Amino acid sequence: MDEVIRKGPPELTPTLPDYARACADFSWDTARAELAGLPGGGLNIAFEAVDRYATSAPERVAFRFLRRGGEVEDLTWAGLREGTARFAGVLEGLGVRPGDRVFALAGRIPELYVAALGTLRHGAVFCSLFAAFGPEPIRTRMEIGAGRVLVTTPALYTRKVAPIRDRLPALEFVLLTGDPNACPEGTLSLTRLLEEATPTKEAAQTREDDPALLHFTSGTTGKPKGALHAHGAVIWHRLSARWALDLHPEDVYWCTADPGWVTGVSYGIVGPLTNGVTSIVDEGEFNPERWYRILDEQRVTVWYTAPTALRLLIRAGMDLPRAVDLSRLRHVASVGEPLNPHAVRWGVEALGLPIHDTWWQTETGGILIANLAAEDIHPGAMGRTLPGIEAAILARRGDALEPAPPGEEGELAIRAGWPSMFRAYLNEEARYRRCFKDSWYLTGDLARRDADGLLWFVGRADDVINSSGHLVGPFEVESALMEHPGAAEAGVIGKPDPVAMEVVKAFVIPAAGRAPDEALRAELMAYARKRLGPAVAPREIEFVTTLPRTRSGKVLRRLLKARELGLPEGDTSTLEEAS
Ligand code: WT7
Repeated sequence: MDEVIRKGPPELTPTLPDYARACADFSWDTARAELAGLPGGGLNIAFEAVDRYATSAPERVAFRFLRRGGEVEDLTWAGLREGTARFAGVLEGLGVRPGDRVFALAGRIPELYVAALGTLRHGAVFCSLFAAFGPEPIRTRMEIGAGRVLVTTPALYTRKVAPIRDRLPALEFVLLTGDPNACPEGTLSLTRLLEEATPTKEAAQTREDDPALLHFTSGTTGKPKGALHAHGAVIWHRLSARWALDLHPEDVYWCTADPGWVTGVSYGIVGPLTNGVTSIVDEGEFNPERWYRILDEQRVTVWYTAPTALRLLIRAGMDLPRAVDLSRLRHVASVGEPLNPHAVRWGVEALGLPIHDTWWQTETGGILIANLAAEDIHPGAMGRTLPGIEAAILARRGDALEPAPPGEEGELAIRAGWPSMFRAYLNEEARYRRCFKDSWYLTGDLARRDADGLLWFVGRADDVINSSGHLVGPFEVESALMEHPGAAEAGVIGKPDPVAMEVVKAFVIPAAGRAPDEALRAELMAYARKRLGPAVAPREIEFVTTLPRTRSGKVLRRLLKARELGLPEGDTSTLEEAS
């Protein structure tokens, strides 16, 4: 028998009170009509997020930044409009054209948020890179995206960008935050440019299909994939945030994700702003005491976080939540990795609320599957598809992929065409097309659906590693390791971990003449961390004398993983093991 967590009567009427009815009544035209739309008839994310509320509620707080030093900095909708109009003016002054790529590499500081929305206002494409990336992931992504502008901090510039600058020919303008008099040669002061800029009067006349946001994600092989999203995504950002996160205008909302990942943009910026909801942005890193304190002191009502963070809070014990007042919390949701049933139950005990799992991907641009505020929770289930979204479980039947009956496992597929669906993998048309079969988008996840329509996550269909909700491409790590003269070959897998779900583990064949010793291990670890950054570098390195490979020469990561776990090796018919 399935376990069910029953919910009491809601404090506020859920935004999606009647699922069946909302599905029956759903139409994309109605969803679209809920947006303001540009005065000239187009659609622009920044206009929906900023201008709309800057007119109706200028003094309302859009973002409350909790700075590293402890200061609290409020940015109102009027302030956000002024800042973003100035940033758009800066881009205008630099000659940045619609569709050009503007990158950001920064922590969760106000300038990042202003740059994101100012770029969209200007009609250029915004891409935020995770500040914990090392120079190598930064270089590959900026090269694929051909970034013309980069917004960053002086410290990140010096450490990570200056060393690779000569290999980024498309990068014309580096805009640095902070003290205008401390900008190294070849950079401009964002502070000064913003002061001197003429704010642009209106948002660019973008249309629904014009490119807006670029997010990188990792595949099993090859380079990272640049998933491109259009301004029309805002239709779904707004609606899915309202439905899946149960956002009401009076909420105080905290999304803990960094804008270096899709969650931090779709639901850390666009979702709350387009719903007129105040967001908390914490610049600091994870820390149990501080996180509980933020929930209490900022009177957070809706909280969107990740299973890894929840598992760390569980570890930190019950004394911390008991010492704070969490009575204002009304809805808690998570994304990025499977949410263990234990964590859902822990939520009831520690926070007074169960955790609502949600499912989506960089490619989907927004939440497609969720446990809804109005429904009881079946711990372990991802939830059901939101109204407007159709999912299928596709199973192999000979050469064909066909929708499978309830209970059967298969690949999770979504009927193509929702507005926040990615529109391209930048410069990789064939790779994009391979994601679609007939009218289905193939997610690369394995799942099953039960007779009640709930979807259950089974695993990934590929070798991509999920470490703390961040996807890591094994190929990117293998390539970096093999650049080190001490490594001849490398195979990289995700090793199960009780907190991070998986950690990156590398199997390395030492180069001829190098002993597989601690010195080499330390050298490789340091090298990988420096090049890739702590979010991507391996946590563990094991020396081996051979790596299992297919006859065509591909590392059989599946087999490495099975051996690591002591599992049956499965089909090894294509195996050609050689050193
Ligand atoms: C992959 C997408 C979109 C938010 C951040 C991740 C895994 C995501 C769940 C969930 C089990 C999940 C999937 C998916 N994933 N949500 N609720 N349960 N797995 O975006 O980096 O593109 O990763 O994360 O494997 O395909 P992403």
